[in-house]
Amino acid sequence: MMFSTPAKALLGALSLSTVVSGFYLPGVAPTDYKKGDTVPLYVNRLTPSSNEKSPELRSVFPFDYYHDKLGFCQPKNGPEKVAESLGSILFGDRILTSPFELHMGKNETCKKQCGPKKYKKKMATFVNRRIWQNYNLNFLVDGLPGSYVDNTGTEYFTQGFPLGYLDTPEPEDGKVPTPYLNTHYNFMIDFHEIPSRKGDPRYRVVGVTVQPESRQSREDNTREFGANCDSEEPVSLSEEHETEVLYTYSVYWRPSKTAWATRWDRYLGVENPNIHWFSLVNSAIIVIFLTSMVGMVLLRALRKDISRYNQLDINEDVQDDSGWKLVHGDVFRAPKNPMLLSILLGSGSQLFFMTGVTIAFALLGFLSPSNRGSLGTVAILLYTLLGFVGGYVSARVYKTLGGEAWKKNIILTPFLIPGIVFAWFFFLNLFLFMNQSSGAVPFTTMLALIGIWFVISVPLSFAGSWFGFRSPIIEAPVRTNQIPRQIPPSIGYLRPIPSMLLAGILPFGAIFVELYFIMNSIWFHRVYYMFGFLFVCYGIMIVTCSMVTILMVYFLLCSENYHWQWRSFFTAGACAFYIFLNAIVYWVSKLSLGGLTGNVLYLGYSALIGFLFFILTGTIGFFSSYFFVQKIYGSIKIE
Ligand SMILES: *[C@@H]1O[C@H](CO)[C@@H](O)[C@H](O)[C@H]1NC(C)=O
Repeated sequence: MMFSTPAKALLGALSLSTVVSGFYLPGVAPTDYKKGDTVPLYVNRLTPSSNEKSPELRSVFPFDYYHDKLGFCQPKNGPEKVAESLGSILFGDRILTSPFELHMGKNETCKKQCGPKKYKKKMATFVNRRIWQNYNLNFLVDGLPGSYVDNTGTEYFTQGFPLGYLDTPEPEDGKVPTPYLNTHYNFMIDFHEIPSRKGDPRYRVVGVTVQPESRQSREDNTREFGANCDSEEPVSLSEEHETEVLYTYSVYWRPSKTAWATRWDRYLGVENPNIHWFSLVNSAIIVIFLTSMVGMVLLRALRKDISRYNQLDINEDVQDDSGWKLVHGDVFRAPKNPMLLSILLGSGSQLFFMTGVTIAFALLGFLSPSNRGSLGTVAILLYTLLGFVGGYVSARVYKTLGGEAWKKNIILTPFLIPGIVFAWFFFLNLFLFMNQSSGAVPFTTMLALIGIWFVISVPLSFAGSWFGFRSPIIEAPVRTNQIPRQIPPSIGYLRPIPSMLLAGILPFGAIFVELYFIMNSIWFHRVYYMFGFLFVCYGIMIVTCSMVTILMVYFLLCSENYHWQWRSFFTAGACAFYIFLNAIVYWVSKLSLGGLTGNVLYLGYSALIGFLFFILTGTIGFFSSYFFVQKIYGSIKIE
């Protein structure tokens, strides 16, 4: 590790900002309970995960806890929905009430959830398949997910605990492992006492641990809670005949010194991330180093060019010069299809600011994972409000590029890209519906999204466009000739495809470690919390994108090719190609999804993310090149 000392310093500074985030959004206040008060336990959807024995992910869609075929116990009056944020729903949470009864501070062993459940063939097959796919149950006690302890006592700070497990050790070749269903849950709940002035102490929930077990409990009405959990025989659902299952649970309360404000820390400190962090910092430093080298070289070459060009004008006879000055009469010629370019740039600016501000909020601790879905909600709201910026940028660029169809531009800006994204999202959602997965976004949420878009985003975008068209065009520093110049054929790495592939890899290199963590959090449902690093990564990505694109545009102009506008967009946007490629590598190495639906869904979402990245990085590339071209042509004298 050659950069370990600066890396360590940076690491310290960054981790501090995430750990210190002891403040929460207003409204997310602690709940105080008296002794014996009911503490709510909510159930969330089942999510696929992986474990040491099968590290590959075998499914991607979540299922509702109260899915018919799972046969879990329901509360007496049926499950009720728990209010959730928009972001929480969009990202798949389905939180419902449960039949579990937890009383603050009261140890209760072997409680019956409901009467015995009968598992017929179809249900048994369904459940066994879900056990094989490593599905996790996700419970929330007082809003806190349970960490999980397996029967060897190892604690896992993941969200959720397994639905069941397979035979240990694995049976000999050819035999199918027997799946065992966890039928008994031991809840270990840590509580923190708050001394009270009046003398009756209050308690807060500060930790939840679940230890699931498979045991054949029996109904027994002579016992206090109606069940006998003494048997240690595991339960396996037979796919031939009916199996009867009695679901039971025990609750143990343990006093704890952990303060409520820090109750999330143990989930966020998960698997020692140092190795990944070091590698991230190292790669970031290498990328910064590379780009600054490139920048310096470029700056020198430019300074030489400019002083040479400006001297040349004095002795007119030296005219056999080549280089970027030759295309001064064409470099500001409007590119083909200015409409599409300006719309992409409008949406790209919207994405750019949305991403930056969302990550900054998260970094400051406003979007703690304890506040479910807040990240998604904030991102969507920001995108909506930034409609104004999108409209403004699109209109101003379009006007500067000499576009005439301003009405079309105003209308298309808020509809084209969001429309494509929404249609794609809707299409993928259909697949989820077909699979009866709870991951499908409910119709009402879809309507709400469309409503927000039409009522807030579209008018804001129109207003932005209006301002954009009223602002003056951005003056070019040189005049454009009447007759376009001939462009010599491109050679070598300057041909479109090689130049894009070459340039796209650097910004990708800046973010790919973070990307790995984000992918794990999306597909393996792990908590993502390294917003400090994400913020730095975003910054590095912006710098790398701009530098690389500027360099490419410089070479392009030197080769007397003045079609730099689309080229700069695509050069930076090529980063998205690598992101998609990375998703495919991830797909091959970490997922093994049976069936068409899971694969379509995975590739569909990856393509969508790639598309958004394309617009985002493309916009960064275009604007930095634009700035660069304005600057260099503004600094030479032209008669
Ligand atoms: C409840 O169970 C926990 C864990 O076994 C134990 O530490 C605690 O003392 C028990 N509380 C009471 C009131 O018995």
